[in-house]
Amino acid sequence: MTTSSPAPDLSWIKKLTRPEDLAAYRNTLIAEQQPDATRILVCCGTGCKALGALDLLAAMKQAVADAHLDVKVAPLVKRTGCHSFCSRGPLLTIQPQDIFYQKLKPSDAAEIVQETIIGGKIVPRFLYKPIGSKQPIEKRSEIPFFAAQTRVVLERVGVVDPFDIRDSIVHGAYSALVKVLTQMSPKEVIEEMKISKLRGRGGAGFPAGLKWESCARQKGRHYVICNGDEGDPGAFMDASTMEGDPHAVLEGMAIAAYSMGSDRGFIYVRMEYPLAVQTLANAIRQAEDLGLLGQNILGTGFNFKVSVSTGAGAFVCGESSALMSSLEGKVGRPRPKYIRSTEKGFRDSPSNLNNVETYANVPKIILNGGAWYASMGTERSAGTKVFSLTGNVNNVGLIEVPMGTSLRHIVYDIGGGIPNKKELKAVQTGGPSGGCIPIPKKFLDINVGFGKLAEIGSIMGSGGMIVMDENTCMVEVSRYFIHFLVEESCGQCTPCREGLTQMERILTRITRGEGEEGDIELLEEIGTFTNSFSLCGLGTSSANPVLSTIRYFREEYEAHIRDKKCPAGVCKALYHLEIQPEVCTGCGVCKKRCPAKAITGEKKEPHLIHQELCIKCMECYRNCKFDAIAIR
Ligand SMILES: Cc1cc2nc3c(=O)[nH]c(=O)nc-3n(C[C@H](O)[C@H](O)[C@H](O)COP(=O)(O)O)c2cc1C
Ligand code: SF4
Ligand code: SF4
Ligand code: SF4
Ligand code: FES
Repeated sequence: MTTSSPAPDLSWIKKLTRPEDLAAYRNTLIAEQQPDATRILVCCGTGCKALGALDLLAAMKQAVADAHLDVKVAPLVKRTGCHSFCSRGPLLTIQPQDIFYQKLKPSDAAEIVQETIIGGKIVPRFLYKPIGSKQPIEKRSEIPFFAAQTRVVLERVGVVDPFDIRDSIVHGAYSALVKVLTQMSPKEVIEEMKISKLRGRGGAGFPAGLKWESCARQKGRHYVICNGDEGDPGAFMDASTMEGDPHAVLEGMAIAAYSMGSDRGFIYVRMEYPLAVQTLANAIRQAEDLGLLGQNILGTGFNFKVSVSTGAGAFVCGESSALMSSLEGKVGRPRPKYIRSTEKGFRDSPSNLNNVETYANVPKIILNGGAWYASMGTERSAGTKVFSLTGNVNNVGLIEVPMGTSLRHIVYDIGGGIPNKKELKAVQTGGPSGGCIPIPKKFLDINVGFGKLAEIGSIMGSGGMIVMDENTCMVEVSRYFIHFLVEESCGQCTPCREGLTQMERILTRITRGEGEEGDIELLEEIGTFTNSFSLCGLGTSSANPVLSTIRYFREEYEAHIRDKKCPAGVCKALYHLEIQPEVCTGCGVCKKRCPAKAITGEKKEPHLIHQELCIKCMECYRNCKFDAIAIR
């Protein structure tokens, strides 16, 4: 398997010493390219890389070389970041034809080059077919997963080679920085940000322009910090942005630094994101060498040095004050916020901390204007939002939609619905401190945005969205998230430390069939107390998974406690499986698949599960095509 990272040839780099040099350099790069040449964009994002994308990339390059094509028609094979449709990887797109091939192996490379690149023919078996349709779709832009998105932050992700700054420059990188350096005062930059109504994408939704203004007002050395910690289970929005378009984040930070008179920035990234760390470090080096970051940027006298700092992967270190402590080399623990970080943050100096996606929006706002950005989304939640759509949904991946898009549109039109014809039960938003929104009862048509989700007991958080089907036990979901928070709480304040521990104990008892009358009320009491009196955001939202599941799925808690039943068939102590003889066709599939040899029966006769042997692995239940197996 190929694991090596690219070792770019940097001999072409010459420092740009005037703002106008960037446009001239960009024009040279565009002229050097053959505008009509075919480009094969191979996704090498973390998901596809894990599935062997680097081998596919190497095989594509080899197949092109083996074809001995005239240099004028030889396609350029390039590695890119995440193409977003992670459940279909490894994959590639051929441009400008817009052909999308998915689920590829390195051994497919020669056929793609011979048939499609040389022969101009589509290979139908590599095309994507929507679930339930026999009609493959040829063009990426016609696949509903992509067609229904509005890509602002993700526009260059999956398009440019994140290891070569030239590709990003061709696609517009750093032109917003040139604009602010040559045409805008720091105050005008902040004004544009305020007009855009961009709210921080890390969770709390604080208006970015106001934060920048408050930081700029302070005296002393200013720091610009990017929060790339992204500790929510199932979230990969920020990782994909850092890996796929590092220059959007760096340019956003440089513009922020200019607006508040800062010369120093840090990007805090967890060590579990090695590709993001590597991509950013390489991007910073190339940008500095070109004169786009570092000392005397483009000869304007503006200095801005950025470094990547790695965290050990503690969820609490994503909290702003804990992050700054960790950045200072201290233990990553939140502190009380009587004084804002914009006044006294990193090294007791004015510090502006924003999320990766917040910064990545900035160049677009500067180039297109704040009013353009504010025209997308809703009054209270402007712009677009990136979500990582995961769980029981057909199209797992990264999506970007205008704020205010309905959950129905996200789950069914973009997500392609629920696998195996199951019913949609809930959507969990906001990570471990978020809530579970019951669906379809009331909320399928709710518009996703900061206010709406808070109204119904959840939060938008940084954009994790986990879809849950009918076989999800909401008590177990709540126990899972509380267990995660018990592990991640820093433990310095009593309501969070003790409240979480007690909630986990009660939930564990309930899922084991040892729940007692009064447990639900006790959970509500402890949860309300923990949310009210903890020190930082981890504690003050920690009971959300419990409180939201009790609010919307109380009957499920009652079934566990009173009837000693788990209706979803998840809590092993609380259910058993039975084959319904009147439905069973005797096909024998369950018997073949049972690892415990717990099923007997003759062909074409109803089968039987021997309860004493069954280990509740659910293999039979999942594979019976006739729905003959019931959870009791
Ligand atoms: C426990 C906890 C974890 C957090 N993790 C993150 C994170 O991983 N990334 C992030 O941007 N914000 C995270 N936040 C929010 C940050 O404290 C902060 O509000 C945010 O980074 C500010 O950037 P923004 O205004 O651009 O959203 C977390 C907050 C808490 C309480
Ligand atoms: S609320 Fe929890 S994570 Fe936050 S400071 Fe208190 S103990 Fe630490
Ligand atoms: S798979 Fe279903 S239909 Fe087939 S034998 Fe088992 S229970 Fe019966
Ligand atoms: S749940 Fe697993 S162990 Fe039990 S009968 Fe089905 S396949 Fe066998
Ligand atoms: S990592 Fe390849 S599509 Fe997401």
